[in-house]
Amino acid sequence: MRKAIPVLSIVPVLLIFGGGLSPREARASNGIVGVEICMGCHEDHYKTYMISTHSKKGIPGSPANQAGCESCHGPGAAHVEKSGERGVGIFIFSKKIADAKSKSAKCLSCHGEGRDLAFWDMSRHKASDASCDNCHTIHSGTRKNLRAAQPDLCNICHRSIRMQQNRISHHPIREGKLKCTDCHDHHGGFGPKMVKANSLNELCYQCHAEKRGPYMWQHPPVEENCMNCHTAHGSNHAKLLQSKAPQLCQSCHDWTRHPGTIYTRFETFQGTATGSKNRMFARACLNCHSAIHGSNAPSLRGKTHVR
Ligand code: HEC
Ligand code: HEC
Ligand code: HEC
Ligand code: HEC
Ligand code: HEC
Ligand code: HEC
Ligand code: HEC
Ligand code: HEC
Ligand code: HEC
Ligand code: HEC
Repeated sequence: MRKAIPVLSIVPVLLIFGGGLSPREARASNGIVGVEICMGCHEDHYKTYMISTHSKKGIPGSPANQAGCESCHGPGAAHVEKSGERGVGIFIFSKKIADAKSKSAKCLSCHGEGRDLAFWDMSRHKASDASCDNCHTIHSGTRKNLRAAQPDLCNICHRSIRMQQNRISHHPIREGKLKCTDCHDHHGGFGPKMVKANSLNELCYQCHAEKRGPYMWQHPPVEENCMNCHTAHGSNHAKLLQSKAPQLCQSCHDWTRHPGTIYTRFETFQGTATGSKNRMFARACLNCHSAIHGSNAPSLRGKTHVR
């Protein structure tokens, strides 16, 4: 059947050059002329279309089972009648002729009902005038029709996130162990910052379940928001921390009796053995308060997150 297409297509193409569709024929088909006619003049786009899922007759509702090229580009009769003169009478994506909304509308006419795009209206991408074809190209023959693989695709626009991934401590995105879309609903969702959960903590628990507890002794900032101490993409401090101990701890605890003040240079190097010295060295506060996410140890040790 496939082999027959080019042969068959010669016939309509010849027809075009011999005068094209009669206005009556075009009206009868709502201005739809069919894939074979487009192919006659756009062989490259035809070939890439044929590689994509959209050309598969076996998939119900695919463009192949509807108007082919014209499912996305709109009825082409007027375009063909003028022999494609400067692309008249056809919907053009890549040129800045169409706005984001009307471009996405072409895709959503089929994809609007699906689970994948159910929350598109809520997405920052839609709100920021990004459209489907910013990330997808129908004519490249790539997986899921993507313009590039992750994280490169996302990094095209998110330059500051790309820089964060290069820091010493980072979620292993560039190592290929995690994708941006493991954490984000790029098509939109209910979560803050388009994360795939109702809260940031719920997101973290999906992969770091042990941090959920329950603990007999909770550390309130952990329960409240992991981001009180961590960054999401990358940090120049170990373990994705916002800053390192003791500064990290003292940003909240400098009013407590222990320690009373932010450590000075003198306390750091001249403190007594049991005094402040060991609170600055090595892992600082974490030398003793190692159960920082919560503790189940009994009594004062647990309460003060000393394991
Ligand atoms: C008789 C030849 C011919 C046929 C048949 C034809 N086109 Fe075209 N098409 C052209 C020409 C010529 C252009 C202008 C190309 C340019 O400006 O680079 C064009 C432009 C376009 C453009 C805009 C490209 C751009 O960069 O401006 C699209 C999209 C397009 N055609 C889609 C289609 C579709 C879909 C069909 C089938 C319904 C079709 N064409 C049928 C000749 C044709
Ligand atoms: C599923 C939707 C879809 C189908 C089906 C489709 N295209 Fe496209 N086409 C696009 C999108 C999106 C772009 C712009 C991005 C890109 O280059 O992929 C595009 C780009 C083009 C362009 C370049 C001008 C432009 O609009 O940017 C031409 C020419 C074209 N398509 C022709 C065709 C032809 C011929 C067919 C059928 C053989 C076809 N297309 C089928 C979505 C589609
Ligand atoms: C005529 C209906 C129709 C139109 C219009 C349409 N699609 Fe599709 N598309 C489908 C169907 C059906 C599938 C296969 C089932 C699925 O994945 O939803 C599909 C699959 C896809 C896939 C998955 C491909 C894969 O290889 O897994 C992507 C991505 C996609 N479409 C993007 C788009 C974009 C972007 C547009 C607009 C430029 C568009 N579609 C326009 C019907 C359509
Ligand atoms: C910010 C980039 C981006 C935008 C904008 C975008 N997509 Fe996607 N889309 C992706 C990525 C990345 C994937 C693949 C996700 C994966 O690999 O799990 C995808 C997957 C898909 C799929 C296939 C779902 C599946 O897993 O089978 C469809 C269908 C789709 N997109 C349609 C659309 C439509 C329609 C629009 C516009 C309304 C759109 N996308 C806008 C990035 C985007
Ligand atoms: C491990 C989960 C995870 C991964 C993987 C991830 N993110 Fe995020 N991202 C988050 C969290 C959590 C936030 C919210 C951070 C906050 O509010 O402090 C966020 C916020 C963002 C923001 C909003 C930035 C801001 O400062 O408001 C953007 C943009 C973003 N991520 C893009 C990306 C991109 C692009 C990738 C892939 C290169 C990626 N993310 C990978 C978890 C992740
Ligand atoms: C065409 C450019 C573009 C591409 C490609 C792109 N984004 Fe975005 N994204 C934006 C814009 C614009 C915003 C809104 C401004 C901002 O927050 O930076 C945004 C916002 C976001 C946000 C923040 C949401 C919020 O509520 O603050 C996240 C998360 C995000 N994008 C993730 C992704 C992921 C994941 C990918 C890759 C699958 C991706 N983006 C690809 C342009 C893009
Ligand atoms: C989709 C899974 C996933 C999600 C969601 C996730 N992480 Fe991770 N996280 C990982 C992986 C994988 C590693 C690397 C583990 C390794 O290398 O052994 C990691 C490592 C870490 C590390 C240690 C980094 C280092 O330099 O050693 C911290 C801290 C961390 N994650 C915090 C978080 C926080 C906070 C959240 C919520 C915003 C979160 N993670 C969400 C998968 C995830
Ligand atoms: C009060 C500050 C603080 C908060 C809030 C916090 N963490 Fe941590 N986290 C740390 C510190 C400090 C380390 C380094 C511990 C070490 O080096 O022993 C760490 C290390 C980690 C690690 C890597 C080492 C390990 O223990 O597995 C992961 C994963 C992690 N945190 C996840 C989380 C998650 C998930 C949340 C939210 C539920 C969270 N953190 C909230 C301070 C915090
Ligand atoms: C975002 C603010 C914040 C950060 C950062 C923070 N804490 Fe806390 N911490 C609290 C709050 C609030 C409490 C509960 C109030 C209290 O009991 O003092 C608490 C309680 C504690 C307790 C138990 C106190 C008691 O008497 O029960 C210890 C010990 C502790 N934190 C140590 C640390 C250490 C060590 C770090 C650094 C790794 C740290 N905290 C970082 C806010 C913070
Ligand atoms: C040498 C071990 C050790 C180091 C280092 C240490 N602590 Fe403690 N900390 C303890 C012990 C033991 C307790 C419980 C007994 C007490 O209250 O003195 C405690 C109690 C606390 C408490 C709760 C009681 C109070 O004083 O409010 C806080 C908060 C606290 N530490 C914060 C910190 C911070 C922040 C650091 C780092 C700057 C730090 N600790 C370093 C051993 C240590």
